[in-house]
Amino acid sequence: MLSVDDVEAARDRIDDVVRWTPLEYSHQFSEMTGADVHLKLETFQRTGAFKIRGATNRIATLDDRAREAGVVTASAGNHAQGVALAASRSGVDATIVMPEHAPISKVEATERYGGRTVLHGADYDEAQSKAHEIEREEGRTYVHAFDDEMVMAGQGTIGLEIVDDCPEVDTVVVPVGGGGLIAGIATAVKARKPDVRVIGVQAEGAASLPESVRTGHITELDAVNTIADGIATRKVGERPFEVIRERVDEVVTVDDEQIAVALTYLLERSKTLVEGAGAVPLAALLFDTFDYNEGETIVPALCGGNIDTNQLTTVLVRGLVETGRYLKIRTVLKDRPGALQDLVEIISAKRANIYAIQHDRTSRDVAMNEADVEIDIETRGHDHIGEVLDALRGAGYEVEVLA
Ligand SMILES: Cc1ncc(COP(=O)(O)O)c(C=O)c1O
Repeated sequence: MLSVDDVEAARDRIDDVVRWTPLEYSHQFSEMTGADVHLKLETFQRTGAFKIRGATNRIATLDDRAREAGVVTASAGNHAQGVALAASRSGVDATIVMPEHAPISKVEATERYGGRTVLHGADYDEAQSKAHEIEREEGRTYVHAFDDEMVMAGQGTIGLEIVDDCPEVDTVVVPVGGGGLIAGIATAVKARKPDVRVIGVQAEGAASLPESVRTGHITELDAVNTIADGIATRKVGERPFEVIRERVDEVVTVDDEQIAVALTYLLERSKTLVEGAGAVPLAALLFDTFDYNEGETIVPALCGGNIDTNQLTTVLVRGLVETGRYLKIRTVLKDRPGALQDLVEIISAKRANIYAIQHDRTSRDVAMNEADVEIDIETRGHDHIGEVLDALRGAGYEVEVLA
């Protein structure tokens, strides 16, 4: 099984390629939770995620023949960029197979980091089969995203940095996809400080680990669905699972709304941009999915910041809705001059700001002398939303809350 010596050795191998990322005390989240919260900002890692740690360690342990033949992997996400940069920094040729529909931004980023991309297949599984075909045909080494001890050891260097920078740490909270990241971190942290708790977090729409831990056998999900695409994995790897069973104290889940709220808070209050998977550990803390004491030192590991800009817009709006800062309503007005103004005045009297109004007299959903109106409103929290809705309903409007 993976040992702390493997992780220590990885640190020596990768330290001229990989950044020692900052650990920052967060006043905001400490105040909100009563814990002493320090954020591990792996979002500032090269390529924007931790994957370069494991990939660099894996490539550094190749023999000369394997270096000459090059590496291959399949990924549509952070692992693609991590392997591309790790390989080019190590002078090794890398082929990355990505599904045909992979976002162009990710394909371009992988190429910019020096990887040769091959677009193949409708999904990750098909891309992976192609990568294994290339492995056989070209004699390249397949760099697995998580089910590989050298990869796990590289990811575990985050754990060494956490205990070095924050010796008073009580609890580390880590997102889990295939499990390589938490296996490495738990190995490092528990060896240095056996009493520190390591908590794994999965997204509800991709939560294979709780059942796997309960039954002692790896559970594979038929499908996954979450905004945290970095951890949208159907099952954990065998090697990580062995370590997780031994060294991870607890596994919890968070839903997409909770992830959206944590992501929004991180941006607003810590000026930190994370992707869905990066927000997962803070979501687990903010929504009390595990017990902790007042003043406990907790380190959520924010492991990636690569979010697509379109997805960011959607997630932020969801985050604003969940925190009561955005309200979308629908109502029906009499189609007469001044009807819209009357409605708007009630909203302004409550000091709520209107983002957008859609006023439709032609809608088939309303009578000929009526207009269908949808309004997007900026609000100041759930109580304020209650006030706005009470005022409208009190004035006789039938209001449907759309978001
Ligand atoms: C940002 C981010 N966080 C966490 C993970 C989970 O890592 P693992 O699959 O090793 O559990 C990933 C995996 O791609 C990721 O991209």
